[in-house]
Amino acid sequence: MVLGQDGGNLFAAGVADMDYKAPPAVLAAMQERLDHGVFGYEAVPAPLMPALTDWLHTRHGWQVDAAHILRAPNVLNILAIAASLFTQPGDGVIVQPPVFFDFFDIIRENNRTLISNPLILKHGHYEMDFDGLEKLAADPRAKMLYLCNPHNPVGRVWTKAELRRLGDICAANDVLVVSDEIHGDIVLPGHTYTPFAAIGPAYADNAITCLSPAKSFNIAACCSAFTVISNDVRRKAFQVENSRLTVNKNNAFASAAMVAAYSQGSAWLNDVLRYLDGNLALVRTHLSTISKVDLIEPEGTFLLWLDFRRLGLSPDDLTAFLRQQAGWAVTRGQAFGVEGEGFARLNIACTRADLTTALGRLSKAVADHSIIKKTGDFQ
Ligand SMILES: Cc1ncc(COP(=O)(O)O)c(C=O)c1O
Repeated sequence: MVLGQDGGNLFAAGVADMDYKAPPAVLAAMQERLDHGVFGYEAVPAPLMPALTDWLHTRHGWQVDAAHILRAPNVLNILAIAASLFTQPGDGVIVQPPVFFDFFDIIRENNRTLISNPLILKHGHYEMDFDGLEKLAADPRAKMLYLCNPHNPVGRVWTKAELRRLGDICAANDVLVVSDEIHGDIVLPGHTYTPFAAIGPAYADNAITCLSPAKSFNIAACCSAFTVISNDVRRKAFQVENSRLTVNKNNAFASAAMVAAYSQGSAWLNDVLRYLDGNLALVRTHLSTISKVDLIEPEGTFLLWLDFRRLGLSPDDLTAFLRQQAGWAVTRGQAFGVEGEGFARLNIACTRADLTTALGRLSKAVADHSIIKKTGDFQ
């Protein structure tokens, strides 16, 4: 819980990072690097690539050749470079909203055309519209697809079968898959994250995978992402572009944090996942007592997609209601595309105490709203 800019005691659950301190091993590694005291130019430390490949292999069963990995400051940077390198101005990039809003900005800012293939919401469960994708991918202007795996904000952890089907459609139509897998480590019990490129060599060949320890270990500000590109021609082109843009330098703290996170952070992350599952159970139980707010059951990420449509508020009124009546500073659903209208995204990577307080406030706000609505006073 933090004090809002407007002086109110707002529940700050918008930005997709966690309220938890980074793992002790990460803090210790950064402290050690700080204590060293010399911060001249340095090469990528030798343990970094093995730490990344070991993590991907032991945690996700994905055998990655270290030579296929390129470092990047952050995932958005990888998405932007991929679009500018492998598509031309005006070309289409397919997205599946409601989806992470920065996808829209990157496509627009790079003068590419957004092609929207909305997800389908069926009985509280989001699915990809494969028929829609077949049609859109067949348009020769469609050159790239931004995949969000797992999917922010609806929390789907795409299955191997779904990814295979998407990959087959894209490959058949020469649409390059840029798979943002930044949330890949945050998977709830009973679900398994499948890296798109791990399905098989043909899928890997048509993929640019974006990865980062930012979400998993709460080190987003350390700027420490990487991309896996198996296709030699594309990887070489990416490398040349990185060099042209001079984003290929090593950051000493990011490297220290990454090595420690991936080589020593597994148990810490498991604890966090258990805690998040407990927070989810709390939300689930609590929302079952509020008749007009529905939880879209997540399979991964620490972001919950809540359906407020039965409250009958316009998108702007819903935003105002959540902020002013419930004290919730969450991300408004419409930020993820028009498909998100009537929804909001709640970050549950907070303390259970804060979450309990926030849920109590929501109950009260909804109850008050129902009374006001009955008497016709709500503006
Ligand atoms: C799906 C997704 N991709 C990328 C990012 C941002 O990643 P980075 O900070 O590495 O650019 C976020 C952050 O919320 C995200 O949810």
